Order: sequence, then C-alpha cells, then structure tokens
Amino acid sequence: MLYKFIDIPQLEEIQQHFLKEVPRWPSSDHRNFPKDSEYLAGCTPLIEYLEKVNLWRYVKYIGILQIYPHVSPIHVDRGEENTPYAINIPVYNYIDTHVAFYEVVSGETSIAKTTEDTQWTDYSTAEMKEIDRIYYHKAAIFNTQVPHHVCNYTDDVRISVSIRFTKSLIDVIDLDSL
Ligand SMILES: [Fe+2]
Repeated sequence: MLYKFIDIPQLEEIQQHFLKEVPRWPSSDHRNFPKDSEYLAGCTPLIEYLEKVNLWRYVKYIGILQIYPHVSPIHVDRGEENTPYAINIPVYNYIDTHVAFYEVVSGETSIAKTTEDTQWTDYSTAEMKEIDRIYYHKAAIFNTQVPHHVCNYTDDVRISVSIRFTKSLIDVIDLDSL
C-alpha cells in the first residue's frame, strides 16, 4: 500500500493548531518532536482521534515538514524500515503541491553516508519511474519506505505534519477501519 486517505474529525481545527503554533523556518527542513512536545500534546482533537482508533499508545514522535519551492531528492525515510506507515496531515499549501512515488527501472542505487551512523539510499544514479502521486486534500496513511519526494512548484512554503509510530500499523490495526 502506498497511501490511503483517512477521515480525521475536526481536521480544520488540527490544521489551524499547527499553522498557529509551528514557527516558520527560513529554509526547507524536517524536524522531529517528542510525543509530549507542545505541538502534539497541545493538539486535543488529534489526540482524541488517535485515542479513538487505538493508536495513541503507539505514537513515537511527530515530524514537521516545511518544504520551500523546489523538488526534494527522492528518498525513503531513514530509521523507519520496520515501521513504514505514518499518518500525514496536510497543514498549509497542500492543494497545489504533491508527493510522488517511484520505483527503480534500471541502474544502480548506492548507499550514501555522511557520518558513521547516517546512511541512506542514493537514487540519483538510477533511472526512476513515477508510479503514483498523492495530493493531500485530507489526511492519509503514507508508506515512507517507497521512494518518494515532495514536489512544490508553487511560490510558497508547503507545511505538513507526520505522526510516526513504534509499531507497523498493519500489525496493530485494520487499516480498512480508518
Ligand atoms: Fe520522506
């Protein structure tokens, strides 16, 4: 499964919470905040939803993504190999931007390393084919382990939030029930 849209009640309130609380960063960045951080702990409608669907207990952290106009490199999210499914919530400038999924058609991928502990797959040396894309008109379960990137061809920042879990969601819940 690449992605699946889900209905989160009070989505507008949740979006307003993040839009109001999250500071605007000067350049594209993805930062993670703990489960008890003010961004997540202060968002009552989102916690109520996660409790209702029995997922709050499995929340690991919240990622906040701000992508300025450009196309980010194709990647899979590091450190999430065993917990591929995130719940992503669009917050700002999500109608005219999208996330594209890819598969390797030919060529070699390689492991890029910056430090001893940090490595990821470098897809720039392979020929990639777009297999799907998602326009977030609402929240969605998202598979972070399929190569993907954010495409922002607008002239404004795109803001989204990603809830990450301690377990693979398919092991703890029927995704069709969401
Ligand atoms: Fe990603």
